[in-house]
Amino acid sequence: MRLISGKTTTEDSFIDSDLRPRHLSEFIGQARVKENLNIAIVAAKKRGEPLDHVILYGSPGLGKTTLAYIIAAEMGVSIKVSSGPAIERAGDLAAILTNLHEGDVLFIDEIHRLSHTIEEKLYPAMEDFVFDIFLGKGPSARNLRLTLPRFTLIGATTRFALVSPPLRDRFGVSYHLGFYDEEAMKIILQRSASILKIEAEQGGLVPIAQRARGTPRVANRLLKRIRDYAQVMASGVITREVALEGLSKLEVDSAGLDDIDHRVLHTITDKFDGGPVGLDTIAASINEDADTIMDVYEPYLLQLGFLERTPRGRVATKLAYEHLGLPYKKGLQSQPDLWGQEQS
Ligand SMILES: Nc1ncnc2c1ncn2[C@@H]1O[C@H](COP(=O)(O)OP(=O)(O)O)[C@@H](O)[C@H]1O
Ligand SMILES: [Mg+2]
Repeated sequence: MRLISGKTTTEDSFIDSDLRPRHLSEFIGQARVKENLNIAIVAAKKRGEPLDHVILYGSPGLGKTTLAYIIAAEMGVSIKVSSGPAIERAGDLAAILTNLHEGDVLFIDEIHRLSHTIEEKLYPAMEDFVFDIFLGKGPSARNLRLTLPRFTLIGATTRFALVSPPLRDRFGVSYHLGFYDEEAMKIILQRSASILKIEAEQGGLVPIAQRARGTPRVANRLLKRIRDYAQVMASGVITREVALEGLSKLEVDSAGLDDIDHRVLHTITDKFDGGPVGLDTIAASINEDADTIMDVYEPYLLQLGFLERTPRGRVATKLAYEHLGLPYKKGLQSQPDLWGQEQS
């Protein structure tokens, strides 16, 4: 797995559990989400009711799983964890739902990957807290209706657009997690450094904050790598020089881009004259998985303004050309359109 990918790796899973904030007050950034969630939690607790179903969406590593655990902790309830692809049959879902207790949180990660059949089974569970089991087949079939405890479903997804509209409608609230700004990233790094007892100068954390793609998971991963570098190549303290050297050894550039980002951009600028070019074509020409590019690489390139989405495909912007140090042939991408308009 790539260093800057927001996706979890096995190496992450044990640092994640140390570094994962447990309470809303420890969760850094995302001010609007936190404020709204806090109000919803306090209100639900006052009424003595479970929280409304919540859907969390955003790029990998931005804190969706963390927030799900925090919500359960703040509500003072247990959390059961599953994921879209893991729930294969109606029986799997029945087993999960019937094991919940009143008020519990059921967290379904990658909820956009639930099968259609399971989704349909989930609707009555979300709306009326019932689960229908059909016994037998044909004319002798009977319907057994189970009453479920009132629970809170928290769904997480990196692809909100792939969540079917009827499922979306059944969530009371949706929260979008965006990339973190540099200030928030610095605070996250300071917190992680102090938990992991890493000696770091203020100036040493800045370049890491700037190059962690606005993603806490990436920040924590880079911090660990730079600590290794500091211990082997320097005095153990993360100073600005050590951080910059370490980052360049890790081939993370000044904008936080790695080799794959560069290949994506260069494919568009060099092979396709700046675009537009379809994402599948880009993926095929650099031999990477289109889903990974869409989930992990593209959102950040869009955020930086290096890439634009057009109906005909992805276009590399002037900023991208500048970052790559390439001459920008201004207006090249829009020429066919202009000609078209003039002729008509
Ligand atoms: N707001 C935050 N403040 C501090 N650390 C965070 C925050 N969001 C995420 N993290 C850190 O990043 C890691 C990845 O977050 P996670 O919730 O697993 O992301 P996601 O589920 O969206 O992929 C967590 O283990 C935690 O250490
Ligand atoms: Mg997660």
